[in-house]
Amino acid sequence: MLNFDFYNPTQISFGEGRIAKLDSLVPAEAKVMVLFGGQSAQRTGTLDEVKKALGDRQVFLFGGVEANPTYEKLMEAVQIVREEKIDFLLAVGGGSVIDGTKFVAAAVPYSDEPWNILLNSGRDIEQALPIGTVLTLAATGSEMNNGSVITRRSLQAKLPFHSNLVFPKFSILDPSKSFTLPERQVANGVVDAFVHVIEQYLTYPVNAPVQDRFAEGLLQTLVEQGPLALSQPDDYEVRANLMWVATLALNGLIGAGVPQDWSTHLIGHELTALYALDHAQTLAVILPSMMQERRDAKREKLLQYAERVWNLREGDEEQRITAAIEQTRAFFETLGVKTRLKDYNLEQAAVETVLKQLEQHGMQQLGERQDIDLTVSRRVLEASL
Ligand code: NZQ
Ligand code: ZN
Repeated sequence: MLNFDFYNPTQISFGEGRIAKLDSLVPAEAKVMVLFGGQSAQRTGTLDEVKKALGDRQVFLFGGVEANPTYEKLMEAVQIVREEKIDFLLAVGGGSVIDGTKFVAAAVPYSDEPWNILLNSGRDIEQALPIGTVLTLAATGSEMNNGSVITRRSLQAKLPFHSNLVFPKFSILDPSKSFTLPERQVANGVVDAFVHVIEQYLTYPVNAPVQDRFAEGLLQTLVEQGPLALSQPDDYEVRANLMWVATLALNGLIGAGVPQDWSTHLIGHELTALYALDHAQTLAVILPSMMQERRDAKREKLLQYAERVWNLREGDEEQRITAAIEQTRAFFETLGVKTRLKDYNLEQAAVETVLKQLEQHGMQQLGERQDIDLTVSRRVLEASL
């Protein structure tokens, strides 16, 4: 196992009715900005529930944070927070609203142009406002991690940043809030959480059996519960298991002390920025071809994955690896998430454009061994057509 530091200060309050706990979780004297997305938080009544729980506190509402939140929109919130001297941010929504809130939290006290937070990957953040979250969509793990991904529309750039200063102080996970999700978002969430585990697990062995078995347990849970969430959309237990598995998939635990990949995500971000594919759609397209491209580099872990996650024991090594990749693609397709660029009307021209953007964003040394250069990315993208 590699050396590591593990830090996660986010308090979790999990279960139906937990939004009422906001009253004790948010400081009594706080001046609060509640950030939310397009319409879902209002339509579903979650926003009203949040406002009620905040009681007499001074509350400013900031709606309209987009899926794949933009710098352009979030800078409006930064200005209001600065002007009104707001001192606590509450995100009500999915990964996009939470990520956007993390950006606002870091941008408000940032002395330089806030886009530099992204250009510096968050390394120079010195302060951030405290944030809390009310999660309405199980997928990203943003509710319990220090990451955020922000899009700058004018540059067609979607870049991540990390800072321990933007960990939520608390997150409320009420699985019943996810009942109103459209099927597409439920399926997206399963795929995203699955690929988060894969990016931290499917690399090379470092004798870390705790992280490996934990990761395999999360993957098996997703394979089991994901389809149930679609076939039994009213089942609270299923939604609860899905919400917890997605949180644990990216809260730092399984990634501590092991090599990490993230190439599928970083190529996927370019596809979202350019062509507006959902985050999970990009992952479903790239991951199977990335596995195929890296089948030698990832051989030992692919064989372990084949046996322990998909129970594949027949045939020689090559056959088992091929079958594991096929099972992965089939799993995404079963959930209704398409796995080919052409399913999203993208062709060779898109490959060229994505490669240009990867170059421009310095994404030429991806993967657990930093050896995925533009030539390898080209092969992966062409195999994804
Ligand atoms: O905007 P509204 O009307 O609220 O609708 C949202 C949105 O359109 C809707 N929705 C959310 N909760 C709902 C609901 N509709 C009905 N009922 C509910 N309870 O769902 C749509 C998608 O929401 P979004 O927040 O965009 O989805 P998700 O949670 O998948 O977040 C995706 C974003 O997170 C980033 C992605 O890149 C993407 O920008 N990621 C963040 C990560 C992190 N911080 O650690 C890691 C991930 O890899 C990912 O990159
Ligand atoms: Zn993701």
